[in-house]
Amino acid sequence: MLEAFRSTAIQLPNRVAMAPMTRGRADDLTGVPHPLTAEYYSQRASAGLIVSEGIWVNKTGKSGPGIPGLVTEQQAEAWREVTAAVHEEGGRIYAQLWHAGRVSHPGVTGRTPVAPSAVRQAGRIFSAGGWTDTVEPRALGEEEIGEVVQDFADAARRAVEAGFDGVELHGANGYLIQEFLAGNTNLRGDRYGGSIAARLTFPLEVVAAVTERIGAARVALRISPGNPENDIVEDDWKEVYSRLLAELRRYELAYLHVIDTPDVEVLSHLRPLWPGTLVANLRSEKPTSRAEGESLIGAGLADVVAFGRLFIANPDLPARFALHAPLAEADHDVYYGARLDGYTDFPAFEPDSAKFACSARS
Ligand SMILES: Cc1cc2nc3c(=O)[nH]c(=O)nc-3n(C[C@H](O)[C@H](O)[C@H](O)COP(=O)(O)O)c2cc1C
Repeated sequence: MLEAFRSTAIQLPNRVAMAPMTRGRADDLTGVPHPLTAEYYSQRASAGLIVSEGIWVNKTGKSGPGIPGLVTEQQAEAWREVTAAVHEEGGRIYAQLWHAGRVSHPGVTGRTPVAPSAVRQAGRIFSAGGWTDTVEPRALGEEEIGEVVQDFADAARRAVEAGFDGVELHGANGYLIQEFLAGNTNLRGDRYGGSIAARLTFPLEVVAAVTERIGAARVALRISPGNPENDIVEDDWKEVYSRLLAELRRYELAYLHVIDTPDVEVLSHLRPLWPGTLVANLRSEKPTSRAEGESLIGAGLADVVAFGRLFIANPDLPARFALHAPLAEADHDVYYGARLDGYTDFPAFEPDSAKFACSARS
């Protein structure tokens, strides 16, 4: 996992990627990333690849408080500082482009959330005043869908102009792109829904528009087949994603990012269908571990492994893996929110010189 990875699109010094993680520290009014964000990511620049936190492509697509955007010049300017800081430390960073679909709230955006169909998400959602009931989203009109596709393409162009090495389209975890793919959230009868082929239309239009705008070698897609997060039901994921990958194979995307569970059922099914670069990440109660990463790469199920939670408290994760150093743990309370502790204050590992001296003598 610590060896380099090279494809025609990406060259990484190691296969330890930082998974996209919303941290909720941006200015909630302007969507401008916090001034410490440049430091936060540059501290993690030894990752083979950093995938940024999800960034909204339009205001209605913002999921929760403190999530940054990539729509205004002011936002782009702040991201330019982030990408410059990462590059200065020798790193690479992709922007994760995100439309939250129905997983949003008027308390966050001042607007009714939009989705393929007016199907309310079961459960609750984190809004400006705390946890609250979800609302029924408004079904997007056909013309509006075209506008959202353009918003993804515009944000991708802005991302490249702001110095990002590429973009990862957020097609995972129950947000807009996956809502079009899933049968329980997409009840449309037009060209965007009704059959599996039609459910693929919107995701493929986004990929087509974004690759046309910035070139396929700078575009990646994240998917989470069968993931029930945010009230998604995808019992037919094998067929849906096999067909999606068959369509995607015509683009030479930078990579496909697949979220699976530790049973690796999804990866085992999809890997043979994806000749391109595959980044894998495992979702479970416990953070994806080094041993799991080694085993994914050893089994040929992934080229690169993305680690999320471990990167919060271990900014120098590849070095810790190399040294078999102890891993720090972050308290869940610091994951999200405006508080600044638990953001840039996790130190890099410093070998205990006394201990080394001692063991050297023995
Ligand atoms: C604080 C936090 C924020 C997250 N935000 C995002 C996000 O913005 N986009 C995304 O695709 N996944 C997001 N995820 C999911 C992670 O990318 C990853 O899939 C998950 O944490 C499992 O990987 P891990 O076990 O290595 O942490 C988030 C996870 C955490 C813990």
